[in-house]
Amino acid sequence: MPKGSTLPPFASPSPTSNTRQIVLGLVVFTILSLWSSSRYLSTHSTLTVIPSNAQRILDDCAALYYLPGPPPNFAARDESDRYVPGTRPTLITNATIWTGASGGREVVHSGEIYIDKGIVKYVGKRVPETFVTSRDHHVLRINAGLLWVTPAINDLHSHLGVDPVPELRGSDDTNSRNGIVQPWLRSLDGIDTHDEAYRLSISGGVATALVLPGSANAIGGQAFVIKLRETKDRTPLSKVLEPPYSLLNGTHADPSLPPRWRYIKHAAGENPSRVYHGTRMDTIWQFRVAYNEARKVKLAQDAYCAKARAGQWAGLPASPPESLQWEALVDVLRGRVKVNIHIYETVDFTSLVGLSNEFEFHVAAFHHAHEAYLVPDVLKQTYGGPPGVAVFATNARYKRESYRGSEFAAKLLHDQGLQVVMKSDHPVLNSRFLLYEAQQAHYYGLDDATALAAVTSTPAELAGLSHRIGYIKSGHDADLVIWDSHPLALGATPNQVFIDGIPQLSKPFVLQKPPGLQTVPKTPDFEKEASDAVRYDGLPPLKPTKRTDSAVTFVNVQSMWIKGSSGAVESLLVAQNGRPGVVVVRGGTIQCFGGATQCMASEQGDIIDLHGGSISPGLVSFGSGLGLVEIPPEASTNDGYILDPISDTVPSLLKDVEIRAVDGLLFGGRNILIAYRSGVTSAIAYPLFGGTFGGLSAAFSLGASHKLEENAVVQDVVALHVGLSHLRNGLSVSTQIGFSGDQEKWFKAVSEGKIPLVVDVDKADHIATLLILKSEVDRASGKSLRLVLIRASEAHLLAKEIADAGVGVILIPARQFPGTWDQLRALPGPPLTPESAIGVLFRHNVTVGLGITEEWEARNHRFDIAWAALEANGTLSKADAISLASSNIESLLNVEPQMDLVAYAGGDFSELSSKPVAIISPLRSYVDIF
Ligand SMILES: *[C@@H]1O[C@H](CO)[C@@H](O)[C@H](O)[C@H]1NC(C)=O
Ligand SMILES: *[C@@H]1O[C@H](CO)[C@@H](O)[C@H](O)[C@H]1NC(C)=O
Ligand SMILES: *[C@@H]1O[C@H](CO)[C@@H](O)[C@H](O)[C@H]1NC(C)=O
Ligand SMILES: *[C@@H]1O[C@H](CO)[C@@H](O)[C@H](O)[C@H]1NC(C)=O
Repeated sequence: MPKGSTLPPFASPSPTSNTRQIVLGLVVFTILSLWSSSRYLSTHSTLTVIPSNAQRILDDCAALYYLPGPPPNFAARDESDRYVPGTRPTLITNATIWTGASGGREVVHSGEIYIDKGIVKYVGKRVPETFVTSRDHHVLRINAGLLWVTPAINDLHSHLGVDPVPELRGSDDTNSRNGIVQPWLRSLDGIDTHDEAYRLSISGGVATALVLPGSANAIGGQAFVIKLRETKDRTPLSKVLEPPYSLLNGTHADPSLPPRWRYIKHAAGENPSRVYHGTRMDTIWQFRVAYNEARKVKLAQDAYCAKARAGQWAGLPASPPESLQWEALVDVLRGRVKVNIHIYETVDFTSLVGLSNEFEFHVAAFHHAHEAYLVPDVLKQTYGGPPGVAVFATNARYKRESYRGSEFAAKLLHDQGLQVVMKSDHPVLNSRFLLYEAQQAHYYGLDDATALAAVTSTPAELAGLSHRIGYIKSGHDADLVIWDSHPLALGATPNQVFIDGIPQLSKPFVLQKPPGLQTVPKTPDFEKEASDAVRYDGLPPLKPTKRTDSAVTFVNVQSMWIKGSSGAVESLLVAQNGRPGVVVVRGGTIQCFGGATQCMASEQGDIIDLHGGSISPGLVSFGSGLGLVEIPPEASTNDGYILDPISDTVPSLLKDVEIRAVDGLLFGGRNILIAYRSGVTSAIAYPLFGGTFGGLSAAFSLGASHKLEENAVVQDVVALHVGLSHLRNGLSVSTQIGFSGDQEKWFKAVSEGKIPLVVDVDKADHIATLLILKSEVDRASGKSLRLVLIRASEAHLLAKEIADAGVGVILIPARQFPGTWDQLRALPGPPLTPESAIGVLFRHNVTVGLGITEEWEARNHRFDIAWAALEANGTLSKADAISLASSNIESLLNVEPQMDLVAYAGGDFSELSSKPVAIISPLRSYVDIF
């Protein structure tokens, strides 16, 4: 409990007030009020009249001080308030159950779970006959085949519903722009019940989300926890979990019940400054003004109620003072609201922690919090004790405030004793894959129990809802997921999701995952990297050590893939008789590989033990601004957007300028170096454009420090880029098509098949038009236009036609999402559809590449391709997977195959056990050691 707060004697002294304290409080209160009124009656009866609603006033006053919590005997409930009559009871047997109990350490092997009436009735080894017998034929029985079952995922930071997809002009209700401080707004008033993302996120195991207003305002408004599933009522309110009584019963709520938790969003730093044309100083002042108003109301209420309790009715108004504007903040000051703060930097932590102490309110969680791991002690000084911290795993450097974000933050914060949550900020990250955030946090050092808790139990605790969600426990809501592999294994996908006991997947497409994925992944040791992140204040050095002439010997090499003479990825046998082999490299070139006896004879130089690891081709990044963009919103760190000759006024001086990415390349940025350390050795960059007309792309090496270094630029001109969609410069799509067919100089080279034409396009109808255009151009020129479709969310609908036309596809992102109308028919993949887009295109022999959207994502290419292969249910080999982010992109774009190789210790590129330790570069004649 916050120290020094002034609570009347009948209020529970703890924010985690339990039933007994409340009951006790009621008794004490009743005695006090009887005592005060009897004293008053006997001594002052001739002076004042008791108002007829005196008891109501005293009740209302008492209610002001109750702290939220479940009603008495909640744990003994028999049926959920969310139970949908007719839902079949379900018995899950033969399951490996992670319950969330004992700090996430409890696992019930070969266990059983019985759910009925929307709640878990039993979890343990063997369900007793008192619950269910073999004669209960109405019970749905699921043999989990030893698969893992966990509580469903709870997302502590989401804009589901308020920022719905597909994004349409009329549907965005994330941010009000009407004032920097608006505690009276409620996200509930903007929750669209038709967001396409509900069913997608459910298919990733997500049951609940805290729907927060956006971060444009210092105080953006009140937030609500919703369950994602459909309801019979179809209303936003029917989705809300434990809605405050005022929403259900208005002023007629029973005042003797403890209130339910409320939630509010605050934001510090850049966003409110930008939107309200102010500075951090202005924002903090606005916070202080607002909290001061709330404090005045609170003090007036306290004074009023003190008088009422003392029986000093004379001159007292008919009810305690209230303020519709400030009541939510008054409740914050009364400890009845979970405050969730969007915040990044040390300076902002200092101010907001200061604010919490000045006005004496607790903070439930700091969100984003990219610098929290650098100043844990500041966070711990928050009024009332340390808040939780809700972070992304690897999403960072997307703005200045997140420049020092670290993949080790989750681990470091946990080591500091802070509660860590992984969050999506949906649709910033697609919350369907929130579990992936936990997987990455685990990969970068967070222990498995804490990583799983970070998306299940911990958010439930921080939301004040752990009495019913976040654990598999008798009496808890029946929100749980059966996973096709260990939930911390890459690509873990639900076989079934239950919310309020209702199975959410009507006909799930189930993948058969390799047995190796059924246990907690063994992850690499990143202790040094993690401590370096702190040591260097968030900017640890990333440059590798170069070996140019001396030999480097890799021992304990289990497997190896290289590009053959055609550029295609092939597997090579290094291990001899099942025993790991040796690879000797000198001057960046492999001299020998095979058994130790053959290769070890030559000079060994540095010896690098790969511990059963592997060597495979470096990956090629495509799709983001990598190489042209360092911090996206900071113009001074970027190459900038090009003018569009159609919609912009282009100065005549610039009319004939060739727009080439190669002229603007930026080497050595942090996203580049991190991608390089993650096995990405080259990238293709194209000028940033928002219109129809792009420019010429370039291929470059991520290992180079500047353009003049030998072979830093792989290829000056790769392809001509254009875009086609409804979102571009207000032109009709048909106008854009008309333009693309124009016989300008660029298009001449393209139409003669000299360089590829890369079209950024999503909608199947537009793709169809492009295929017709290609056939016309080809007929006219007698040559073949090299057409590559990128993004291509709906390409799967035309897989055969695309294959027949000899057109290639680079899917961006790897796991598609219907963010816009043009992307509406994106294929979600298992468990919603049997195949993903990659699978469909691959099956039709379309050459497919995978790209990314934002620069920071480059580091995750290897996980994207590994995941794509897992989703293809055995139809893609590891070599095929590597091709998706290397040789396929090169062959589609006609780029000379790059021969750089990556050495991974502890496993191959696709495994969470592995870590890239070196890059072997034959072209640049060196080995880079990390
Ligand atoms: C549990 O699942 C495993 C794996 O599918 C299976 O081999 C075993 O027979 C099952 N046990 C029972 C009791 O159903
Ligand atoms: C709200 O109203 C419902 C329906 O009348 C009632 O069952 C419930 O007890 C009320 N809750 C409170 C807190 O007053
Ligand atoms: C995956 O492959 C297995 C085994 O071949 C098959 O039983 C299963 O139906 C496939 N799943 C999907 C979604 O195609
Ligand atoms: C794809 O290519 C393979 C190998 O060349 C061939 O056997 C198969 O029929 C092709 N599939 C389609 C759909 O064209």
